[in-house]
Amino acid sequence: MSGPTLPHLGEGLEPTLREDLAAVTELVPLDEGGGATALKVFLLAELILNRDLSRIVEIGVYRGRLFLPLARLMFWLQRGEMVGIDPWSAEAAVQHEAALPGIDLVEWPATIDWAGMHADVQRHIERLGIGERARLIPQRSEDVDLAAEFGDAPIDLLHIDGNHDREAVRQDLDRFLPYMREGSILVMDDIGWPSVRNIYEEVATEHQVLFRITEGSVLLTPTSGGNDFAVLELRPKSTGRT
Ligand SMILES: C[S@@+](CC[C@H](N)C(=O)[O-])C[C@H]1O[C@@H](n2cnc3c(N)ncnc32)[C@H](O)[C@@H]1O
Repeated sequence: MSGPTLPHLGEGLEPTLREDLAAVTELVPLDEGGGATALKVFLLAELILNRDLSRIVEIGVYRGRLFLPLARLMFWLQRGEMVGIDPWSAEAAVQHEAALPGIDLVEWPATIDWAGMHADVQRHIERLGIGERARLIPQRSEDVDLAAEFGDAPIDLLHIDGNHDREAVRQDLDRFLPYMREGSILVMDDIGWPSVRNIYEEVATEHQVLFRITEGSVLLTPTSGGNDFAVLELRPKSTGRT
């Protein structure tokens, strides 16, 4: 499938590392439930390297197309951790406001083997030998005890890609931002979705947008694995730490 030509990003990565991260990303299939592109993996990997980020947290792991390569990176770096939060349940995956052409996000979750998907992510972690730096929290983001999990050190990079309904996205921001610091990186996925767009625009007025990538085809072909995300650097307002 031909799409818009994107700048050749990720070239700041050492070639062996870049190839390794691409290979780990490709272990995980893309499907209608989503999944990160190699471009996104490379961009975030560069930020983690260049800014010495240590604690990386993802809300919404799904099959692990972002979680696994970034956990692999933390393993290579021998620092910090990659934490993935996902309940892997049909009930949690129901989304009422988020809508994609060709997929009913109320009906679709019941067709997925969520327990099998969780087990597959765990199996990949074991096979890749990265368990020392990879941690899964099989809960909804709203149920995680943040003080217990992240009270000891700030989250350096947060990827919000869980439930895309308006209230869920807002709640993720309200709950997690106090556990980040000034200068932490916030990645919001699917900023073109109507339920996410306004919240993203609000956040973008309070924090520094480093870049955003939205491909025109994203909303038309959900299985194309297109990019639709923004990367922001947190300003002091609404963070709990300095
Ligand atoms: C679009 S997928 C994530 C894709 C993944 N970030 C990637 O790049 O490959 C959304 C995931 O969010 C999870 N999810 C839904 N509600 C959630 C919640 N309340 N907390 C955490 N994860 C949630 C779903 O189970 C699903 O696996």
